[in-house]
Amino acid sequence: MGSVKVDVPTHCVHRLLYPRSLVLVSCVDGEGKANIITLAWSMPTSFNPPKAAVSVGLGRYTHRILEETREFVVNIPTMRLLRQVLFCGSVSGRRRDKFKEAGLTPQPARRVRAPIVGECVAHLECKLSQALTTGDHTIFVGDVLEAYADQGVFREKYLLENAEIILQVGEGDFQSLKPQPGRAWSPKT
Ligand SMILES: Cc1cc2nc3c(=O)[nH]c(=O)nc-3n(C[C@H](O)[C@H](O)[C@H](O)COP(=O)(O)O)c2cc1C
Repeated sequence: MGSVKVDVPTHCVHRLLYPRSLVLVSCVDGEGKANIITLAWSMPTSFNPPKAAVSVGLGRYTHRILEETREFVVNIPTMRLLRQVLFCGSVSGRRRDKFKEAGLTPQPARRVRAPIVGECVAHLECKLSQALTTGDHTIFVGDVLEAYADQGVFREKYLLENAEIILQVGEGDFQSLKPQPGRAWSPKT
């Protein structure tokens, strides 16, 4: 016999799909001001061509920028950046300079105008290929033009060595996966 099932309230439904790893999406507005948004909702959507999607709330400043400029960078932060990640997820870049206030470094990207977040360990430069508004968020799908990571952090096929990526577990709860060399990236298994 199965377990007793209880209803999950509407406002908590998305939590059934957690934990999720946090990303910082960087972009640049029409006046040339760079912005950063913290996102829990991101995913790969195609191997070949490589594509990645981010889901951004309709009211976010980033939403407007992505619609206008059609490009963005998905940056992967680690636990040492948790304070900055939470800051970028709690104020809007409409009237604030989050790079400056968070003490994060905008560095030139290779193929897009949006800067990368220098302190992050990996970066996916994306050109918008599709956008789909679903309820109160839009899924922005990008063609990944360039993808790179800090040396020593990306090994074989995984982004784990020396990198404590941030998992959001619940509302204010964050954890990291501890790298487990020999198990996590054994190519034979
Ligand atoms: C841990 C965390 C995860 C978040 N995930 C998302 C998300 O997936 N999508 C989204 O639209 N906003 C998300 N937010 C909220 C935005 O980061 C926040 O509203 C931000 O201030 C918007 O900035 P902007 O107006 O400069 O675009 C998240 C915030 C936090 C702290």
